[in-house]
Amino acid sequence: MTPEVVDVRILVTGGTGQLGSAVVARLRAAGEEVRVLSRKPGPEVVRGDLRTGRGIDSAVAGVDVVVHCATDFRRETALARTLVEAARWAGGPHLVYVSIVGVDRVPLGYYRAKHETEELIASSGLPYTIQRATQFHGLVRTLLAGAIRLPVVPVPRMSFQPVDVRDVARRLTALAQGDPAGRAPDFGGPEILTATELAQAVGAASGRVRRIVPLTVPGETFRAYADGGHLAPEHREGEITFREYLTEHAHM
Ligand SMILES: NC(=O)c1ccc[n+]([C@@H]2O[C@H](COP(=O)([O-])OP(=O)(O)OC[C@H]3O[C@@H](n4cnc5c(N)ncnc54)[C@H](OP(=O)(O)O)[C@@H]3O)[C@@H](O)[C@H]2O)c1
Repeated sequence: MTPEVVDVRILVTGGTGQLGSAVVARLRAAGEEVRVLSRKPGPEVVRGDLRTGRGIDSAVAGVDVVVHCATDFRRETALARTLVEAARWAGGPHLVYVSIVGVDRVPLGYYRAKHETEELIASSGLPYTIQRATQFHGLVRTLLAGAIRLPVVPVPRMSFQPVDVRDVARRLTALAQGDPAGRAPDFGGPEILTATELAQAVGAASGRVRRIVPLTVPGETFRAYADGGHLAPEHREGEITFREYLTEHAHM
């Protein structure tokens, strides 16, 4: 029997990024017709810039769903505002926005902007879904990879719940193919590990055995992290563990 191909046209912003490229791959594997937005030219890419608005109207035209994975640390809300306006003009596609667990608990500038963006989307009048996820494996590895070169490795006294972008992409694909869900349940990695355990894993994967020293960092942002504001212990739906990710990326 031929599998049924669902004929939905989906735009993925940030489809060239870490998460977005996994979302594009997953959607295409599910038989979806996907359009990728990028500022740079490339195969199967629609060019547009959410900062200037150039090309956004035509990128959004005719799509039923927009999965918004594009991000800019300094202009997160401005990018989304441009997208929301274009989407309204285009007849109101389902907007799926990727956010971060704890954006309303950890007082970091980028998190505040993501929370503000969630509110912008929720009040836009567009059908929407907001998916918060915990930190990606790649980010956690990058944070620790530099420190692991030192003879003694200082790490913050806190935990992470790293998740693989392929697992997040699986969830986003299901959401993009479903009805607008508003704020979806959080999505987290399979394990919660201390920064010490994570640094040991990064060290072991690169053949470096180091003494790891957990430190308490002053300030309210660190306190919010130390209190687990960025964790989703009741949502461990991610399947790929941090150590499995490191094994796969040993050459990097
Ligand atoms: N990293 C984490 O641990 C984590 C955890 C939870 C949630 N998230 C969220 O997941 C989402 C994706 O993160 P990521 O780490 O995969 O991002 P990323 O790899 O840094 O990719 C960023 C993407 O944004 C696009 N972009 C940036 N500025 C743009 C603009 N002005 N116009 C159009 N596109 C623009 C880039 O496309 P071009 O360069 O091709 O134009 C690129 O594809 C973000 O919303 C992030 O907050 C991340």
